[in-house]
Amino acid sequence: MNSASAPMERTAARQFRVAWLFLLLTAASGVGLRLFAFHDPGGLAYSHLLHGHSHIAFLGWVFNAFFALAFRLWFPAGRVAFARRLFWILQIANVGMFAAFLAQGYAAASIALSTMHMVAAVVFALSLWRLPTVAPSVRPWLRAALAAFMLSAVGPLTLGPLAALDLRNSALYPLSVYWYLHFQYNGWFILFPIAWVGQTLIDQGRTWQPPRWIFLAFIGGMAGTFLVSALWLRPPASVHALAALAGTLQLVASVFLLGTVGRARSGKTFSLPSLARVLVLIALTAFFLKAALQIVACLPALVELSSHRYITIAFMHGVFLGVVLPAVFAIAHGRGWLADGPRTRMAFSLFATGFLGGQYVLIHAALNWSSIPALSGLLLAAAITQFIGLAFLKIR
Ligand code: HEM
Repeated sequence: MNSASAPMERTAARQFRVAWLFLLLTAASGVGLRLFAFHDPGGLAYSHLLHGHSHIAFLGWVFNAFFALAFRLWFPAGRVAFARRLFWILQIANVGMFAAFLAQGYAAASIALSTMHMVAAVVFALSLWRLPTVAPSVRPWLRAALAAFMLSAVGPLTLGPLAALDLRNSALYPLSVYWYLHFQYNGWFILFPIAWVGQTLIDQGRTWQPPRWIFLAFIGGMAGTFLVSALWLRPPASVHALAALAGTLQLVASVFLLGTVGRARSGKTFSLPSLARVLVLIALTAFFLKAALQIVACLPALVELSSHRYITIAFMHGVFLGVVLPAVFAIAHGRGWLADGPRTRMAFSLFATGFLGGQYVLIHAALNWSSIPALSGLLLAAAITQFIGLAFLKIR
C-alpha cells in the first residue's frame, strides 16, 4: 500500500462524503418517483427522473465511493494531484448529467455529459489498471472489475446507433440496457469490493492467493449470467440451462472464494468492529440470496414472475441496497469515514426498516398474495424512511 498520509486520508474521506451526498440525492429522487403515484408535477416526466435516479445512483454514489476507496488504497503520492482533478471532472459530469436528465431525458446534453463521465471514468480505470501498488494476487480481480466497468459502457454506446436504425422497439434495445446493468451490478459492483478485501488482507500481512480456477469460475459465471437477463425473450430450454449453469458456477466459486478469505484470516487475531461485522454479514447474506435467486429464476415456469416490474425492481435494489451499500459502509467504517454510535445504529435500523418494508410490499404485490389497499402510500413511506435513515448516518 502507498504510504499513509493525513492529506490523502482527508481527501479520500471528502470524496466519500461526496459519494454519500449523491446517495442522498438517489434516495430523494426515489421518493420523488414514488410521489408520482399521488401527483404528476407536469413539468417533469417520470422517465426523466428515473434516468436521473439510476445514473446518479451508479455514477454519483457507487462509482464515487469506489473512487475514494481506490484513491486511498492504491494511488501513490505522485498520482494524487491527477486523481483529485479527475474526481472533480467526474463531479461536474455527475451534477450536469442529473440536471440534464431531469430537463430533457436522453437528449444532447445528457448524452454529452454521460459521455464526458465515461471518458473520465475510463481514464481512471486505465490508470488504476497499471498501478504497481496493487498486489499481484489482487490484480486479476481488480482488472476484472475495471474490465466489467468498461464492458458495461458498450451497452449505452449501442443505444444511439440502434435508435438511428429505428430499432428502439426491437429486443436489442432493452438488451443493451440490461447489458449495462448486468456488467455494473454483477461485475463492477461485486468484483471491486473483492479486490479491496484481498488488498486489505495482504496489507495486514496475511496471504491471500485464491486458486486460478476460482477466479475463472467466478468470471465465467458472472459473464454467463447475462443470459438470465435474456430469458424474457423465451429462448430455447438450452439457454435456460446455460444461464442456470453460469449461476451455479458463480455460486460455487463464491463459496470457495469466501473460504480463501476465511483461511487468510485464521491463525491471527482479526478485529472487525462490531458495526462492520453486522454490515458484512448482511452484505454476504444478501449476496448469496441473490446468487441463489438468479439460479431459481432460470426455471422456465418462473420467467413471467421474474420479469414482473416489481420483482425486477426488488431484485435490483436487493443488490444495490442489500449487498453493495452495506459492503461499502462496512469498508468506510473500517477507514473511519463512518462514525459508529447510537445515531448511526438508529439510522441503519431506520434504513433497513424502509428497505425491507418496501421489498416486502413489492414482492407481496407481484405475487398477488392479497390486495394491498394503500400500496402506493406504503411504497412512498418505505422510500421516505430509507432517505431519512441514510441522511442520519454520521459521515465524518
Ligand atoms: C436509496 C433508496 C432508493 C430508493 C427509495 C429508490 C427508489 C426507486 C424507485 C421508486 C424506482 C422506480 C421503480 C419503478 O419505476 O417501478 C427505482 C428504479 C431504479 N433504481 Fe432506485 N432507489 C434507491 C436506491 C437506488 C440505488 C442505490 C441504485 C443503484 C446503485 C438504484 C438504481 C435504480 C435503477 C437502475 C432503477 C431502474 C431504472 C430503470 O428502470 O430505468 N436505486 N428506484
